[in-house]
Amino acid sequence: MTNKKIVILGTGGTIAGLASNTSSNLDYTAALVGVSQLVGAVEGLSSQVETEQVAQIDSKDMTFDVWTALANRVHHHLARADVRGVVITHGTDTIEETAYFLQVVLSPTKPVVLTCAMRPASALAPDGPQNILDAVTVAGHAGAQGVVVVCAGYVHSALDVQKVHTYQLNAFGSGDAGVIGLIEENTFKLMRNWPSSHINSAQAATENIARLNQTTTWPAVEIVTSYAGVSGWLVDSLLAHGVAGLVVAGTGNGTVHHALEAALRKAQASGVDIVRATRCTQGRVLARADDLFASANGLSPVKARVAMMLRLMGVSS
Ligand code: SIN
Repeated sequence: MTNKKIVILGTGGTIAGLASNTSSNLDYTAALVGVSQLVGAVEGLSSQVETEQVAQIDSKDMTFDVWTALANRVHHHLARADVRGVVITHGTDTIEETAYFLQVVLSPTKPVVLTCAMRPASALAPDGPQNILDAVTVAGHAGAQGVVVVCAGYVHSALDVQKVHTYQLNAFGSGDAGVIGLIEENTFKLMRNWPSSHINSAQAATENIARLNQTTTWPAVEIVTSYAGVSGWLVDSLLAHGVAGLVVAGTGNGTVHHALEAALRKAQASGVDIVRATRCTQGRVLARADDLFASANGLSPVKARVAMMLRLMGVSS
């Protein structure tokens, strides 16, 4: 690790959760323990890092305001010459959306490492302290760059990471792309490339942050899923409510039930942006000659939604 600082930003999550007894990994309240206390649970770490509490929420309740505040604080710290990288403690439930959001907005040349836990801080054997230590190891690694997620000893790219398990400690996957690397005994092992950054990443990030700060209302973009017997009612109703964009989580290679497709065509004809992703957890939507709707370019439905909102806001990727 270089002698530059790592800044650890807290946002809440199970990693900061407490249960009334140590044997419960489920009946707990998320987002109660402050980030400096979480860092204090890792022997010797407090003196090596700076901490800042940006939010204290269960990540299922993530808001655009928290995202904007977080992007601003990450941008601020990354611009400091004495900072090597930023670690963010976060809930597991929407960590993949936050990671993707930060990668698009900041496209950083320094590392931004999100980490989390599947067990609360009060558990008999909490996974949070090891994940924080691993995240700091990755943030301090020479050559590390871009937004990644560290959990259970694995490093995932913001572009590929997805929560794939409801309970196990190793709850994330990176699909066909595979992990960026792994951490063994405080040593990081690189397996493939880091997320890439813009040619002029600092300038682009500053402009993107300015756009976020100017935006009072984010574009209304929703996700609809195609399934057996689906109707077009939901899309019709979203259209009536003035939706700006829709991501359809299609079956298989992004195919859409004819009833839903008819409603989506109507929405498209009235100016609604439509992107086609897949409800499959593995693989990407491959283009076909007769495609009606643009493909999500390998993004999961939730990330395709983030991408669309940012594009509609004029944030450059
Ligand atoms: C959350 O996402 O904030 C709660 C669940 C978790 O962190 O595992």
